[in-house]
Amino acid sequence: MLDPKQHRELLASESASLVPEVKSFPAVMYLESQRGCPYDCIMCTVPKTYGRKPSEMPDEILDKLSPYFRYVETMAIHGNGEALLSQKMDRYIDIANENDSFLHCNSTGFPLNTRLTNKMVEAKLDIRFSIHAGTAKTYQRVMDADFNKTINKIDRLLELSRQKGHKDNIFWLSFIVMKDNVNETEEFIDLAHRLGISEVRFMSLHPNKRTIFGTRRSDDEEKFSHFDQSNAEVSKRFNDSLPDLKEKAEQLGINIGSGSMKHWAGLNAGLRDVTNRFSNKVIKQNIFPLTRPKGSCLAPWTGQVQIEQNGDVGLCCSVKHVIGNLYKQSFEEIWHSAHMNDIRHSFSENKQPKVCGYCRGIGTSEYAIPVNKLIDVKYTEV
Ligand SMILES: C[S@@+](CC[C@H](N)C(=O)[O-])C[C@H]1O[C@@H](n2cnc3c(N)ncnc32)[C@H](O)[C@@H]1O
Ligand code: SF4
Repeated sequence: MLDPKQHRELLASESASLVPEVKSFPAVMYLESQRGCPYDCIMCTVPKTYGRKPSEMPDEILDKLSPYFRYVETMAIHGNGEALLSQKMDRYIDIANENDSFLHCNSTGFPLNTRLTNKMVEAKLDIRFSIHAGTAKTYQRVMDADFNKTINKIDRLLELSRQKGHKDNIFWLSFIVMKDNVNETEEFIDLAHRLGISEVRFMSLHPNKRTIFGTRRSDDEEKFSHFDQSNAEVSKRFNDSLPDLKEKAEQLGINIGSGSMKHWAGLNAGLRDVTNRFSNKVIKQNIFPLTRPKGSCLAPWTGQVQIEQNGDVGLCCSVKHVIGNLYKQSFEEIWHSAHMNDIRHSFSENKQPKVCGYCRGIGTSEYAIPVNKLIDVKYTEV
């Protein structure tokens, strides 16, 4: 096996020239650290689909993957649940530390306590906090939790990170735009400023089987239904407020990153995406889009590969497409398979494979990792 530096050179060259048959391994790996969640965010289907008692990634899978961790520059630990609840947090932090990779996850921040906070700042962190509200009332409605308590926990992690954390640490706040919170985006920007966070994202609400027909946690609560919360009117209100919001954010030194809000609203792909999820379950294929869109994406090279607790290896964390199983094949066999070569070949011809549905793909700006910087240098050379 190559040493990590030689491997980074190889991966950058293969990615920059989009060769279909690669010898490299992914730099971004997602581990399904948790499956199931005891919390109950109103728009999320995880607790209903996977249960409220989370299961852990088996040690056997981690052992099978361990030879490849040396090449991983972003080790993501979010799956179908709240990553920071994992009993294996110490192991994940140690793996990230040993390999100088970012430990990455989306998190509510709910499980942060003194011990975990102290341990986490040992690693290089890339954490996206899901906030989805600008006021305590809306936060309670959406996240079913106490706003001030959570913000204090996040604040303590950020303070400790400033004192003794890694200088490259990255923290974002993320906000899913919906009817209940679309008027609170200014408060959300103020919150980011108060916390000293300089990167925020506005995301779109995805339909799921829980929200399509409407859901509520108790009889006295207003129903939360997808098309009431996310529709053309809500998008318009958000887009109309965006110029002022951008100006405010800029004045406070906050960047509004490229969240999915604009992309999804523009494509109006919500229902077609739901159809794809059902068709994927039944015929293991996406129905939409009907014609193959043009598209580029580096994920089949640099990786956004998703490892599930049952050993399934998914092409990418953005789509459900299984490319192999670690109980049947080695990771090397899966990543270098004829099927993966076909997917890479398709992208090398600027054609997005159907399995990618409506994803807009990733480029080198998605993760601030060394290999992406090297690819940018190599692009100018090829
Ligand atoms: C499944 S969660 C797992 C991570 C973690 N538990 C959290 O809440 O941040 C991944 C992300 O998807 C978001 N999410 C949940 N339901 C969603 C929906 N219906 N549409 C869009 N994003 C959703 C969560 O808020 C979170 O930011
Ligand atoms: S904490 Fe995350 S995984 Fe759990 S219910 Fe909320 S959004 Fe879903």
